[in-house]
Amino acid sequence: MREKLEQLKCCAMAAIAAASSVDALQDIRISLLGRKGELTSLMKGLGSLDPAERPVVGQLVNSVRDEIEAALGSALESAQNNFIATRIQAERIDTSLPGRRAQKGTKHPVSLVIEEICSIFAGLGFAVAEGPEIEHDWYNFEALNFPPEHPARDMQDTFFVENNLLLRTHTSPVQIRTMLKQKPPVRIIAPGTVYRCDSDATHSPMFHQIEGLMVDSRVTFGDLKGVLTVFTNQLFGQKTGVRLRPSYFPFTEPSAEVDIACVICGSKGCRICKNSGWLEILGAGMVDPEVYRHVQYDAENISGFAFGMGIERIAMLKYGISDMRLLFENDVRFLRQF
Ligand code: DAH
Repeated sequence: MREKLEQLKCCAMAAIAAASSVDALQDIRISLLGRKGELTSLMKGLGSLDPAERPVVGQLVNSVRDEIEAALGSALESAQNNFIATRIQAERIDTSLPGRRAQKGTKHPVSLVIEEICSIFAGLGFAVAEGPEIEHDWYNFEALNFPPEHPARDMQDTFFVENNLLLRTHTSPVQIRTMLKQKPPVRIIAPGTVYRCDSDATHSPMFHQIEGLMVDSRVTFGDLKGVLTVFTNQLFGQKTGVRLRPSYFPFTEPSAEVDIACVICGSKGCRICKNSGWLEILGAGMVDPEVYRHVQYDAENISGFAFGMGIERIAMLKYGISDMRLLFENDVRFLRQF
């Protein structure tokens, strides 16, 4: 037993001295000290010794194990240091260089415009409301007076999800959700993402709108024009001309398309305004009594207006962006400019 131990220690020391890698040293540790290791099996053999000899040999085994462990420990440490040193050399890490700074992002132009519009309307007493992007047909169309099969549904190329669920095509369903939750007076704006199956330089299948709704006992078309004039003047600068043209939406009557004097050419006529001097920025109108019927509002005693605008178009006008797709390509060279 003593001899075996001496021999084992000799071989172990030699193997440790010869091992050059962390992995090789780990293997040696397992083969000697592991559950089925050589030294471990020797220790198990202690029981078969003469009881008088056991303590002496036991001590010897312990001291051999301690020596092997110490040798393994220091060999492992230097192997690890070597490994790190070689990697630093190989990867040419210059530890004296300053670290790389994490690049700070900037707010997306669409977010900037949403924030600015919300803060203008906050100044006029409008609260922010929200609704889901996967919407029920009833909120997106039916309650807004688009009956099934109504041709006006074709104006909005809809992504259908399943059964009566769809990706909302506009933020107008938030009008319905708000009126169902709240009695008049109502004064909200609802920014959010909307979806339509449409894609080119001026259309993205995913885009953003802001909806506005004001309902009270005596809201007039004059109030609508006043609010929109204050709004466009604040967003595009004092005395931006505003023009309302008759239009049609199923949920407003009368309905209007709202134009501002072209901010690119100062109404002289350019490519952006198609030489008309005017830019269409939103749809609006007086809430149709049929909509009040769906939310159990008393159409005889209240009135209100609604409006809805596309954010991307406003961001493009404000920042002079010529292609809507730039907004969603996530190119930092573009995004960093805002
Ligand atoms: N929801 C309409 C659309 O996406 C825009 C709109 C028009 C909203 C008139 C309104 C409104 O609230 O009164 O085409």
